[in-house]
Amino acid sequence: DYSKDLEGRKIIVTAGPTQEPIDPVRYITNHSTGKMGYAIAKAAKNRGAEVLLISGPTNLSAPDGVKIINVVTANEMYEAVLNNLKDADIVIKSAAVADYRPKNKSDVKIKKSDDDLNIELTRNPDILYEIGKIKGNRILVGFAAETNDVLNNALKKIKKKNLDLIVANDITQKGAGFKSETNIVTIIDKNGNYKSLKKMTKEEVADVILDKVVDMILKKEG
Ligand code: PMT
Repeated sequence: DYSKDLEGRKIIVTAGPTQEPIDPVRYITNHSTGKMGYAIAKAAKNRGAEVLLISGPTNLSAPDGVKIINVVTANEMYEAVLNNLKDADIVIKSAAVADYRPKNKSDVKIKKSDDDLNIELTRNPDILYEIGKIKGNRILVGFAAETNDVLNNALKKIKKKNLDLIVANDITQKGAGFKSETNIVTIIDKNGNYKSLKKMTKEEVADVILDKVVDMILKKEG
């Protein structure tokens, strides 16, 4: 049982995939179900935090007492995070945000022809990178979904995005990453200290992340 160790803290959690429209019937997305992020939102709420969940399209419903903003695209998620950042003490970005979107969304359904079809993609904003530049006193936690060289890639993301903590999952492992009820993560801080955890439920992973966040807040506040 956790005490209300996040009482009085405001936390933004992002979760789920984004969908980037190609035309009115098609889109680009990824395998995120939102389970990891919703587990964090629920755990933070249980520990007394005021939680805002900013979620891409999922089949989940917001945990009790958690405020939710539903978004579809990376640009919408970016707007929602930025609009609510001012009030937040902690931001945890478990969403799997599309890095690219179709450059031009067709207003009508694209008809098939005998030719190949090329869809030009353009960069989406990197939400975490943008908030890293203006983070102030906030605690910023990112995730890293990796398939290779997990530790090195995650460390690069901590530095580049000005994070306090990154939660790396090697999505090639069974029981880790997208869709599963469990995750296998390595939690890395900005000094490069890391801890690899055994396979746990996403609820358990959520509490370990929040333990770290509470530690960091207490250290900061001395
Ligand atoms: O939803 P589930 O099915 O439970 O799956 C959980 C999960 C695998 C989605 C989750 O554990 C996870 O790893 N989420 C991050 C996935 C991801 O997009 O990783 P990334 O390495 O591409 O991005 C690194 C970080 O930057 C992430 O915190 C991401 O939210 C953020 N980012 C990425 C791109 C972008 N344009 N803006 C961002 O803010």
